[in-house]
Amino acid sequence: MRIIDIIEKKRDKKELSKQEIEFFINAYTKGEIQDYQAAALIMAIYLNGMTEQETTNLALAMAYSGEVLDLSKLNKTIVDKHSTGGVGDKVSLILLPLVSSLGIPIAKMSGRGLGFTGGTIDKLEAIPGYKTNITINNFIKNVENIGISMISQTLNLAPADKKIYALRDSISCVESIPLIASSIMSKKIASGAQKIVLDVTVGKGAFMDNIKKAKILSNEMIKIGNLANRQTICILTNMDEPLGYAIGNTLEVIEAINFLKGKMPKDLKEVVLELGAYMIKLAGKGNDLEKNKKKLLEAIENQKAYNKFIELVKNQGGDITYIENPNKFTKSKFIEKIYSKKNGYISSIDAKKVGNLSMFLGAGRNKKEDRINPNVGIVLNKKVGDKVNKDDLLAIIYLDEKEKCEESKKRLEEIIQISEEQVPVPKTILDVIE
Ligand code: URA
Repeated sequence: MRIIDIIEKKRDKKELSKQEIEFFINAYTKGEIQDYQAAALIMAIYLNGMTEQETTNLALAMAYSGEVLDLSKLNKTIVDKHSTGGVGDKVSLILLPLVSSLGIPIAKMSGRGLGFTGGTIDKLEAIPGYKTNITINNFIKNVENIGISMISQTLNLAPADKKIYALRDSISCVESIPLIASSIMSKKIASGAQKIVLDVTVGKGAFMDNIKKAKILSNEMIKIGNLANRQTICILTNMDEPLGYAIGNTLEVIEAINFLKGKMPKDLKEVVLELGAYMIKLAGKGNDLEKNKKKLLEAIENQKAYNKFIELVKNQGGDITYIENPNKFTKSKFIEKIYSKKNGYISSIDAKKVGNLSMFLGAGRNKKEDRINPNVGIVLNKKVGDKVNKDDLLAIIYLDEKEKCEESKKRLEEIIQISEEQVPVPKTILDVIE
């Protein structure tokens, strides 16, 4: 088999066989196919799409490109969670310790920021000392000992996804249903969970900009999950404006700590509770979603969730004094504040534009080798639907480069739109597909 023939076939909109997909994944993972040929094939997939059968074969080949963990020895149902990506999405930082604090084990492999979206690993690494790169043995031991571990994809789990994910980012091939479905499901299958809850984000700051596409993506992921014997549920959530108030790595960690201490922004709370309620259900710990939400809120009130977060950070080498006293986090050198120029209602805060601004400040990567700056970002003071008066504070920008102050202010002033007419608060949970 030759890669050039496989590229030609996809370029000409033909369906690839299981053997051709497996050949590409195995050879690329081993370094036997060059990046330029893999890039050509990925671009052809991006442009011409894949059938459901091809997407399933791709996901399974990627899942089995490395080790597939067997967590059955933990003797408990392992439920995993993943998001298709968003801006201000710190849900994993909050939800996973929260669910773990209810006795449901969490073994989570997360990604880094991709395009304008943030990544959980970059956020965890904003906590001094936190090790995201640990051995598989330690990963499993952590789950056994304290009921939770959150790591990066540095282990030999779905190595094909690791390579393809970085490649897609560098050739602008991220927003593709077969590529997203196979990327997410390969990681989830390889990391050993029996049940999976997926947060499928929809809107301006998501890779799926409308419900129709989000439903197609959801159905493909559910199908792949079922074929691999992993029950999968997709929750469609709104990502038109950033989730919560903070965007940027340290700033999001601080918002997550505050959430676990009971300060819960409305939209973030709805997403955490909805996903959490389904995770409890899939773990076999309660079918009544409303009761599950109450359990989650109780674990916030009695600090069990916060304590579990501290335990997680400590266990992975992180300095918990930063969690206990978030004032310790390094501050950005400059702070710029944006004020409202008129009375009215916030009508739009385009999450993609905020994500791009946050990248411009240094919170995300333009190239995969770029170092990110954990201290920079944006904290909103208002959300869509809020009433504002002239001179009200709209947002704060945290940045380290003086020469970026003026441009950042100008961009954010344009992003936060205000209308004279009242604007309804947008719906957060858009659909659930089981
Ligand atoms: N998250 C992933 O893990 N992969 C994608 O392709 C997009 C979001």
